[in-house]
Amino acid sequence: MTPADTMPTRYPALTRALHWIVAALVIATIPAGVLMLQPDMPRGLRDTLFILHKNGGVIILALVLLRLVWRVLYPAPPLPSSLSPLQAQVARGAHFGLYALLLVMAVSGYIRVRAGGFPIEMLDAIGLPGFVPRSDSLADTAKWVHATARYALIALILAHVGAALHHLRKRDGVFARIWPPLGRGRA
Ligand code: HEM
Ligand code: HEM
Repeated sequence: MTPADTMPTRYPALTRALHWIVAALVIATIPAGVLMLQPDMPRGLRDTLFILHKNGGVIILALVLLRLVWRVLYPAPPLPSSLSPLQAQVARGAHFGLYALLLVMAVSGYIRVRAGGFPIEMLDAIGLPGFVPRSDSLADTAKWVHATARYALIALILAHVGAALHHLRKRDGVFARIWPPLGRGRA
């Protein structure tokens, strides 16, 4: 048996669970963010979407930070040798980009809301201070960053899902690495 035979081929179960929970939250948070800004949205529904969006975004931030700490403790398993060094490099760059953009989106959203003097219900309920000074110009800058970075995040998610489906079709073992920790699914 060579050392390669004993290396893990999947992410740890917590990583796989976090991946799918964050993916579901992001897939719900983006349309909620766009819908809540539509001018003809009824007031009650708009308020509900704002609450879900802001608090969902804070949960995404917390889970991404947890994931990054976990990733340092448990690095990603090696990619299948069928992938070229260039493919592996592109995958690493795309994953780094996804984490960076999730952080930019969540932090800019947080600053936009706090600097604008608005509530984040979940954090207010536990008495967490705002950390950000009240400032209209800071709120406007954060709003611009939030509205602009979303295009990069959406583009990268589409590329990521496209690449994942490509690997699923090829059944080369990449999809199985992140399969949710339920049952014995493999691809
Ligand atoms: C929509 C939000 C999503 C985000 C933000 C996201 C983010 C990520 C990130 C950051 C990684 C790298 C994990 C690491 O090495 O730490 C990853 C891995 C992976 N994701 Fe996603 N993902 C999303 C949705 C999806 C979807 C819908 C699919 C499937 C159709 C998918 C399939 C995969 C696969 C197969 C891997 C493993 C890649 C590897 O072997 O290294 N992801 N994802
Ligand atoms: C990864 C997490 C997040 C994603 C993917 C996301 C995504 C979006 C998107 C796509 C929009 C619509 C932008 C537009 O049409 O101009 C939006 C708007 C907004 N988001 Fe987020 N968001 C996230 C986190 C947060 C957080 C944590 C907060 C606050 C705690 C927040 C607060 C807002 C607010 C207040 C708006 C409306 C901006 C305005 O005043 O025009 N978001 N978000």
